[in-house]
Amino acid sequence: MSLHRILSLTGLATLAGVGAIPASMNAELPAPNPWPEVIGSIADFEIAKFEAQAITLSDRTYINFYISPYPGSGFTHCFGMGTTSDHTLSSIPQTWCKSSNDTDENAWTSTKNIWFSWTMGKDVDINGAPGTDSIDSMYYKTGAYLKIVRQGSGEGQTRDESIHHFLPYEFETVGDEMLEHQVYNGEQNFTIKALRVEARG
Ligand SMILES: *[C@@H]1O[C@H](CO)[C@@H](O)[C@H](O)[C@H]1NC(C)=O
Ligand SMILES: *[C@@H]1O[C@H](CO)[C@@H](O)[C@H](O)[C@H]1NC(C)=O
Repeated sequence: MSLHRILSLTGLATLAGVGAIPASMNAELPAPNPWPEVIGSIADFEIAKFEAQAITLSDRTYINFYISPYPGSGFTHCFGMGTTSDHTLSSIPQTWCKSSNDTDENAWTSTKNIWFSWTMGKDVDINGAPGTDSIDSMYYKTGAYLKIVRQGSGEGQTRDESIHHFLPYEFETVGDEMLEHQVYNGEQNFTIKALRVEARG
């Protein structure tokens, strides 16, 4: 059995295990902020068990991963689904990560109020809303972008943002004929640079 077949099966198992969508995922998402003011560099976000794929024999795609926003803080689960017409990965709009039983109110270590979005390079509007370097900017019409935001709460709060570009070679089409589908073949565990920004708007 090939690794990708195993990944594919794992993916289906993951889906089956997802069950009810956590209430927080239905909550209203914050408006994207095109002009954040960078306050400073913070610890890298740690990503674990990252998977992205178009599901075999289906028009669905999914992204599944865990994120720890600060060394020593817990991991929270992020999962989102998209739709594809040709078994390639698809973009997934802003989606809340699962709200854990985190009672940690510390803005540095809390795993609450985290959302992500996934943008395929082909969907990037290079002439779209301008952004601050390394947080809101999407320059490439290849590969894919993962954006993760830990939303501050209340007036005058900050938020932590991270955006990562995956290169085209980190995706491949596997499976023959009917089973053909696109999968992410890169590292499952990695870190991404995060910045703390002013939470305006
Ligand atoms: C990735 O990280 C998770 C969580 O820390 C760990 O359980 C898993 O063994 C790691 N996998 C690899 C390939 O390092
Ligand atoms: C969260 O806490 C509640 C109340 O203590 C408990 O019933 C529930 O099982 C917990 N959920 C998780 C995912 O730990």
